[in-house]
Amino acid sequence: MESHQHISTEEVVLECKGIGLSYKSEHSEPVEAISNINLSVQRNEIVSVIGPSGCGKSSLLSVISGLQAPTKGHVIHEGKIVTQPSFKRSMVFQQPHLFPWANVYSNIEWGLKRRNVEKKKREEKVKRILSDIGLSKWAKSYPHELSVGMKMRVAVGRALAQHANLLLMDEPFAALDYQTRLLMQKFMLGDASKRTILLVTHSIDEALLADRVIVLSQRPGRIIDEVKVGLVKPIDPTAKKYIQLKTYLANKIQEEVMKSVNDDGSWPSAVRMKDVWKHSPVD
Ligand SMILES: Nc1ncnc2c1ncn2[C@@H]1O[C@H](COP(=O)(O)OP(=O)(O)OP(=O)(O)O)[C@@H](O)[C@H]1O
Ligand SMILES: [Mg+2]
Repeated sequence: MESHQHISTEEVVLECKGIGLSYKSEHSEPVEAISNINLSVQRNEIVSVIGPSGCGKSSLLSVISGLQAPTKGHVIHEGKIVTQPSFKRSMVFQQPHLFPWANVYSNIEWGLKRRNVEKKKREEKVKRILSDIGLSKWAKSYPHELSVGMKMRVAVGRALAQHANLLLMDEPFAALDYQTRLLMQKFMLGDASKRTILLVTHSIDEALLADRVIVLSQRPGRIIDEVKVGLVKPIDPTAKKYIQLKTYLANKIQEEVMKSVNDDGSWPSAVRMKDVWKHSPVD
């Protein structure tokens, strides 16, 4: 399929081997966030991760990035076991986490400075990224002067400037308006992307822009399904294959979400998808 053409089948960039993570706390029982995650990602492959809220998606990215040490298993990036964060992996967190003291330009320039890129090259790169994320006019603004969606775009820009060979993104486009989200998806996840990306998303449409979709169970997150997408881009939302994949994944997630209904008392039992949608995926 067209979207697989740029993937090299020989080059595995990332491997997760039996990853488990339990958070320990002084005031409560340990929380097992993820369990036995085995995953490999090839160079230039885009893999999306979907699963119910709280199932451990952000925890998985945090372990892969090296910010959290796994309690079981290990992560291998470019053949080396991950023990700490590295400039070779860039992360876009679920919250923008920008440097509040630096303007948009300097937030993006940061990774280039750390890599000792010379001033002229830094300038070219930052200007190009600012244009790609649609924020050229906001270069001198500070984070507190931006909307949440704008901040998230700066966070994406900062990650891109790092020029890492693995991009970990946690719901990067969730706060964007519909049109901007489409533009950012096209720019980051389009066929010309040539990036190795692990993308956490709640949107099945967005997940289907990847080459592969990994479905996590409710917490502790385990991989319960994996779907090769292989849709030709730009995606035709009326295509039979697209509709089949979307329905299949929506069902899968819904089954998993419903398993946790009332487990923790957070959803009243009366709430059912059927009450919200006329044609629920499980009808
Ligand atoms: N730093 C932490 N300390 C203790 N427990 C944590 C910590 N971070 C996450 N958890 C717990 O781990 C579990 C998984 O959380 P995580 O944020 O990874 O889920 P998620 O799938 O990203 O959720 P969402 O879709 O809502 O972003 C949750 O039960 C959460 O309470
Ligand atoms: Mg999360």
